[in-house]
Amino acid sequence: MPITPFKLERYYAKYEFTTRYMLSSSDCEGLTLNELLGMASKESLSRWQNLKLGYTESQGHPLLRQEIANLYKNISADQTLVAVPEEAIYVVMQTLLRPGDQVISITPTYQSLHEIARSLGCQVVPWQIRPAASGWAIDIKKLEKLMTPQTRLLVINFPNNPTGFLPERAQLDAILAIAAKHGVYVFSDEMYRLLELDPATRLPSVSDVYEKGISLSGLSKSFALPGLRIGWLTTRSEGLMQDWLTFKDYTTICNSAPSEILAIIALQNHERIVARNLEIIRRNIRLAGEFFEKHSRLVAWNPPQAGSIAFPKWLGAGSVDEFCRDVLEKCGVLIVPGTIFDVSGGYFRVGLGRENFPQALNQLGEYWRGA
Ligand SMILES: Cc1ncc(COP(=O)(O)O)c(C=O)c1O
Repeated sequence: MPITPFKLERYYAKYEFTTRYMLSSSDCEGLTLNELLGMASKESLSRWQNLKLGYTESQGHPLLRQEIANLYKNISADQTLVAVPEEAIYVVMQTLLRPGDQVISITPTYQSLHEIARSLGCQVVPWQIRPAASGWAIDIKKLEKLMTPQTRLLVINFPNNPTGFLPERAQLDAILAIAAKHGVYVFSDEMYRLLELDPATRLPSVSDVYEKGISLSGLSKSFALPGLRIGWLTTRSEGLMQDWLTFKDYTTICNSAPSEILAIIALQNHERIVARNLEIIRRNIRLAGEFFEKHSRLVAWNPPQAGSIAFPKWLGAGSVDEFCRDVLEKCGVLIVPGTIFDVSGGYFRVGLGRENFPQALNQLGEYWRGA
């Protein structure tokens, strides 16, 4: 079964590097190489300067895997696999799924989380995040009803891209209890974890608390280093780890040597990097709140609970697609319409992690003033 184009990535491929203001980017403002090296310990700096550019260990640099394991409670360095985040999704789906399996996937979400399963001949059943009186909500009873004897995998993504939704701990426990009852694996995309606006709402990593849990994380969002192309999978299942290692020999085999060393430096300074990103996000949430309040006849603003993305609703004339196309053409501001995530109802994605967010909002304000 051929794979369908990745709508968001095709949209970005067309506009990302030619558009002045990115108002929908999901990553946080990229750190410079100098900023990152400025955080390095003497030891790490020496590792960087004396790095030999040979092949690296397929599972990932042992020290990097130890730094990753330190972020978890019940995960050891041997229970981590370093890979590009998007590659990691591919490796898991390819090794775990067979045609005819049923996969329940949270929706909306990052397209590859359900599209790869579909391309493998699985029956993909969406489990919706729905708009609620304030913010977004999930229906746990509905999840129970979706489970069948054919269900092999449940895919979740909290904090969610694109809604910014984060369930409560009790809801996550209920989700995992349903998965356990049906013997289902859970793939948990945790790319935006650590960016909770209230740290008390942070959920545990699914790989820490669920035997058949697989967690994905990486440096692209919460760590502001998407260009390193470093992510990781964690699981307590030895069998899954062996399957992934076997499969990875057919994707990248091993990781970029410079990226691994820079990733070690990033993880050794993760609290500082995450705090810097949250500061940018908090400022931008405040600015967005004020801005959309002024334009409340055009947009219903809805701040996220966690992550670097919000998903407000377009209330103005015409469709959200027309609005996004017009802003792009007339004032060089890239906004991703919800239709790219197959969401109707006029939603659009706002990225809150960039330094030039105030200028992008200003452009949008000018556009509305001129309209
Ligand atoms: C939820 C989610 N998962 C995975 C990825 C993939 O990360 P990367 O582009 O760094 O491979 C993204 C990127 O936008 C994402 O938003």
